[in-house]
Amino acid sequence: MCGIIAYTGHRPAVPVLIEGLKSLEYRGYDSAGLAFVHMNRLHLFRASGKLEALEAKLDSGHVLHATSGIGHTRWATHGLPNEVNAHPHLDINAHIALVHNGIIENFQELKTMLVDCGCIFRSETDTEVLVCLVSQGVKKTGSVREAISWALNLVEGSYAFALISRDHPGTIWAARHASPLILGHGTGENFVASDIPAFLPFTREVIFLEDNELVEMNSEKWAVFEVGTLKPVSKSIQTVSWDVQAARKGGYKHFMLKEIFEQPQVIRNCLAGRIERRTGNVLLPEVANLSVPKRLHIIACGTSYHAGLWTKYLMESFARIPVDVEIASEFRYKPLVPEKDKVYLTISQSGETADTLAALSLIKEQGFPVLGLCNVAGSSIARESDHVILTQAGPEISVASTKAMCSQLVLTFLLSLYWARHKNLLDPQIVDRAVNSFDALPDILDQKLPAMSETAASLCRIYSSARSFFFLGRGLYYPLALEGALKLKEISYIHAEGYAAGELKHGPIALIDPDFPTLAIALADPLFRKIKSNLKEIQARKGRIIALTQEGSGLTVDNEWVIPQTWGPLNTFFVLPALQLFAYETAVYLGKDVDQPRNLAKSVTVE
Ligand code: AGP
Repeated sequence: MCGIIAYTGHRPAVPVLIEGLKSLEYRGYDSAGLAFVHMNRLHLFRASGKLEALEAKLDSGHVLHATSGIGHTRWATHGLPNEVNAHPHLDINAHIALVHNGIIENFQELKTMLVDCGCIFRSETDTEVLVCLVSQGVKKTGSVREAISWALNLVEGSYAFALISRDHPGTIWAARHASPLILGHGTGENFVASDIPAFLPFTREVIFLEDNELVEMNSEKWAVFEVGTLKPVSKSIQTVSWDVQAARKGGYKHFMLKEIFEQPQVIRNCLAGRIERRTGNVLLPEVANLSVPKRLHIIACGTSYHAGLWTKYLMESFARIPVDVEIASEFRYKPLVPEKDKVYLTISQSGETADTLAALSLIKEQGFPVLGLCNVAGSSIARESDHVILTQAGPEISVASTKAMCSQLVLTFLLSLYWARHKNLLDPQIVDRAVNSFDALPDILDQKLPAMSETAASLCRIYSSARSFFFLGRGLYYPLALEGALKLKEISYIHAEGYAAGELKHGPIALIDPDFPTLAIALADPLFRKIKSNLKEIQARKGRIIALTQEGSGLTVDNEWVIPQTWGPLNTFFVLPALQLFAYETAVYLGKDVDQPRNLAKSVTVE
């Protein structure tokens, strides 16, 4: 999605804006720009492509004089990814510049109204409509703050924007609705950005803006108002603990590899303070006031949806709670069937996924309790949920989600045990096995990940020319097969399908040939014999097989990838990084843009 950074303070603004945009690159973009006021004039620089193209244009003498300005990286939603459509956008008289993330859904209707008022448009974007609307508002009200409020009352859709005015050097206005925007408060300087890493090198003091809040700030002060009424809104300042290094690559070639290797620590972080070893009690104070549901309904997208499918197996087996798992973009457009004692669980790394957020709003309108499982404190889903569990995975920068899914699985595993205990269904032996195995898991992973990475690197040299791939699994490894397929296709661009292994003979096996290999998750579990016979069916049709398996499986396949073994469902935490590493190494081998794959964004904040 688009990235926004705005700065007002004592430093030269342009270098701050550029560095801020660089830390937002992970959100995916195809053009960039910035604007500032200097000598009573708005200066605008924009370029299609990466930030280097924008930096190449910053050659004018004024560039280092301005101490406030706005910057933007655009992920095209309306109009082509070219310079004309790049942000910032100016009103026709170049009095106001604005950068925006979101979609103005009624922009055509507003554009028609503005054209009738004599406005001239140069781009195809909805954003230009917004800046022209505000400009009209200034003519009507004489006040930028009032003009913004007036304009936003006409707007439908989602927005997070920052705005500067030629007539008010040093002042910045910003507002949000259904799109993330955070205020950073420094000493003699203030920031607004789409995400915390954009200003983290300068301040850890953050103010999370809520929907329909408008901020007006300069280098010394900031104030928040309610859009519409313009009533002042009091906000609390929170201090973030992330250090800049944590949001950098830490020596790894890509954020994705760093985040895969962070998973042992993520498991430790998720377990910290969650298990009372003396009693075996799971501690989840976040859900202490939530009654144990008769039914759980999980809603998510992408990798988070796969985490939801995996959770179904655990929740039904430990807590005997029936679970429905739905893709958010499907859930939100069908009738919601009210059901007593049901709890909805939204799973989202970013906490800003538009479809998941929309589903959450629908559920809340019906008065049902929503539990959010998020990785970003202060994100929209984290704030809108009635109860929220934060996954403590730290900033996940790579577009391909890895450690966030790991943290989601740890916490939903704990939630299954928690509710099982509340229903007196928890076998103390299970808890002992789980706790002891979980405690040992991170160290084993720390030790084994380098070798797993090497195995993945050698396998990808054999299979990277495949035109398509099957990923097969049974039971709780079926969701992991789906995830393995998603990882491979989203970063290496090789077509891949995840399938329940038992489904193969119901059609997909027609596709098997030497150029359509299979990665099968075939662990030493009760379903091993079943998947073993599936593999024979594939071999009978000359299909090549990588078997992700454990010592002593006795499988005869093209490539046996032996991974460490632990107790029952916790073997998931060896399977998941193996699948991630296979996708990662394949993408690197094929020379793909691993952290920012084409057409993708880290947080899909539009439909
Ligand atoms: C996963 O690798 C993808 N980046 C994507 O499917 C992602 O999981 C999905 O967009 C959901 O994002 P969320 O967890 O932030 O809601």
